[in-house]
Amino acid sequence: MADKKVIAVLGATGAQGGGLVRAIMSDKTSEFTARALTRNVNSDKAKALKELGAEVVAADVDNYESLKSAFTGAYGVFAVTFFWEHFSADKEQEQVNMIAKAAKEIGIKHVIWSTLEDTRKWIPLSDNRMPTLQEKYKVPHFDSKGEAEKYFAEQKLPVTYLLTSGYWENMISFGWGPTRGENGKLAVNLPLGDRKLPGIGVEDIGKSAYQIFKRGNEFIGKKIGIAGGHLTGKQMAEYLTKALGEEVGYNAVPFDVYRGLGFPGADDIGNMFQFKHDFEEYFCGARDLKFSKSLNPELKNFDEWLKENVSKIPLK
Ligand SMILES: NC(=O)c1ccc[n+]([C@@H]2O[C@H](COP(=O)([O-])OP(=O)(O)OC[C@H]3O[C@@H](n4cnc5c(N)ncnc54)[C@H](OP(=O)(O)O)[C@@H]3O)[C@@H](O)[C@H]2O)c1
Repeated sequence: MADKKVIAVLGATGAQGGGLVRAIMSDKTSEFTARALTRNVNSDKAKALKELGAEVVAADVDNYESLKSAFTGAYGVFAVTFFWEHFSADKEQEQVNMIAKAAKEIGIKHVIWSTLEDTRKWIPLSDNRMPTLQEKYKVPHFDSKGEAEKYFAEQKLPVTYLLTSGYWENMISFGWGPTRGENGKLAVNLPLGDRKLPGIGVEDIGKSAYQIFKRGNEFIGKKIGIAGGHLTGKQMAEYLTKALGEEVGYNAVPFDVYRGLGFPGADDIGNMFQFKHDFEEYFCGARDLKFSKSLNPELKNFDEWLKENVSKIPLK
């Protein structure tokens, strides 16, 4: 243990970071060990990570000194930020800037930054196909991450940019699952038209990040995308039909209707879907399925993910 290289994992009690901590700690022969970073070292989730053998250390992405102290002695950092805690793209960028500065000061050997596209490279603010949000963004929770890549570059850090995909867990906890219409029939209602949506079981993000660390310098300076499947709404409905044993349809929700649903962030997510729809070829191409499987052979496709998770999807 003393000789193992420490990976400091942000968001360790959450979805992406939690998957990485579990991937590292379940590999008993690993050259790595996980340092789970959390704001509350006494929470049940933090205790569960401790039970796996991970070191649990306090850190807050809003507190530079806490980041520096939590990174001290680590070989690697898994960096992820938590847009949906505050909904501010500017704040997210400040947090990434602090993470990058702290990683540089400590001399981290490999940072993985969990990122997404700056969609303004495809849809400039002057493009009126979708509204501009927070004054200077199209898809704030994407654009801020893409723009924040500059902070790692500015610090000349050894970084791998990991482009993630939408979690299939959004079907469990974020309303992407099928709902029952007035006709009593289940349907997936998403603003996807007839295009393919890259998706992933979130545990596979952490597993993929672990493989990137294991492969040393191979992906440093590179941007790599991962997905467990590229599925149209109709295909998702077909897999759900099989998994649930009940027919599930698909309704392509218009982007404007989705943006107007009124839940916090609906406009941001509506714009996100439109970006994925309009730039399907690029977006899927950046998340190659064969590469993703070769990186992480345990990667689940949607069918496999459903086998384990379908019972958790609330059917309303
Ligand atoms: N949902 C999707 O489909 C999807 C897809 C791709 C990318 N993303 C991105 O993923 C990011 C979130 O990652 P996630 O889903 O893994 O998060 P998550 O499951 O919501 O977990 C976030 C964890 O981060 C910790 N945290 C929150 N605020 C913190 C702070 N100020 N300092 C330190 N830790 C803090 C919390 O732990 P403690 O309370 O223990 O501190 C929490 O357990 C978002 O930025 C989102 O845009 C989401």
